[in-house]
Amino acid sequence: MLLLEQSELNDLITAVKAKKELANLDDTFVREKIEKLFAGNAKLRKKYDATKSFKQFSKSKEWEFILKAVRKELRVIYGVFQGDRTGVDVSAENLTAVLETHISTRERIPYFDMIYKELVDRIPAPRTLLDLGCGLNPLSYSYMKKHGWTPSIVGVDISAADMDFLSDAMLQLNIPGKTIAADLVKQADVLDAVDAEVTFVLKLLDTLEEAERHVSYKLFEHIHSKWIVVSFATKSLGGKKNISSAGRTWFERLLHRKELSWETFSVPNELFYVITNV
Ligand SMILES: C[S@@+](CC[C@H](N)C(=O)[O-])C[C@H]1O[C@@H](n2cnc3c(N)ncnc32)[C@H](O)[C@@H]1O
Repeated sequence: MLLLEQSELNDLITAVKAKKELANLDDTFVREKIEKLFAGNAKLRKKYDATKSFKQFSKSKEWEFILKAVRKELRVIYGVFQGDRTGVDVSAENLTAVLETHISTRERIPYFDMIYKELVDRIPAPRTLLDLGCGLNPLSYSYMKKHGWTPSIVGVDISAADMDFLSDAMLQLNIPGKTIAADLVKQADVLDAVDAEVTFVLKLLDTLEEAERHVSYKLFEHIHSKWIVVSFATKSLGGKKNISSAGRTWFERLLHRKELSWETFSVPNELFYVITNV
């Protein structure tokens, strides 16, 4: 599908990633989004073909359009959750500040105790836990530990740089486990090799569905744990808008089709499904 020269693509990737909140994304992931945009936009390709040089193209309004469109897509699925980690020291004393550098864990800090209490009441303590689209949630280990869970954790998220940071932080905080960088829309089969008793899918499915509709059905084929915990935001980022709970009907349909049983509980801002997968 490559329409642009490699060096031209590199220039575009660098320009997209100039935005701080996108800087940690893998080049290959950004490249796929640029190529997809080009492949689906004949007007853009025509303008590109008609422009004498790439230098000239890089000054065109089409170039600006590409940057805007790709950044917008990447912000929705990734950038919007990124806080600033600059100068944040990773240590047990500083855990709250570290958790605050990802918006999803930041929102959950006041409720971790409530959440893990609900989970330990329903799920036997696992030895292994898989956390999909994990952000920094594996660093909430000390809260789990307080409630009697001390699993080895495998965290999976999209950016290799973020997963390096997370695995260093886990080491630093004595959290057993490892991380995997993978695109769960395209590479969910990496999960087949992971043996986990519980899988967390926290605030992830809406994001994946943004990238590809119905991808959750495929993802569930690669989750082999006995227990699956899925959560959804019930408030928009920043807490201004309530997200309609009717939005979850599609998910309950998925659970029915897969003949899975579940219970729900909620904390402010988040609705949890505890699913038994036997
Ligand atoms: C709303 S955040 C939730 C983070 C974490 N699960 C939590 O609740 O604390 C969504 C996460 O999904 C990740 N993500 C988005 N698209 C992804 C993909 N295709 N594959 C893997 N992770 C993805 C983002 O990087 C982000 O960390």
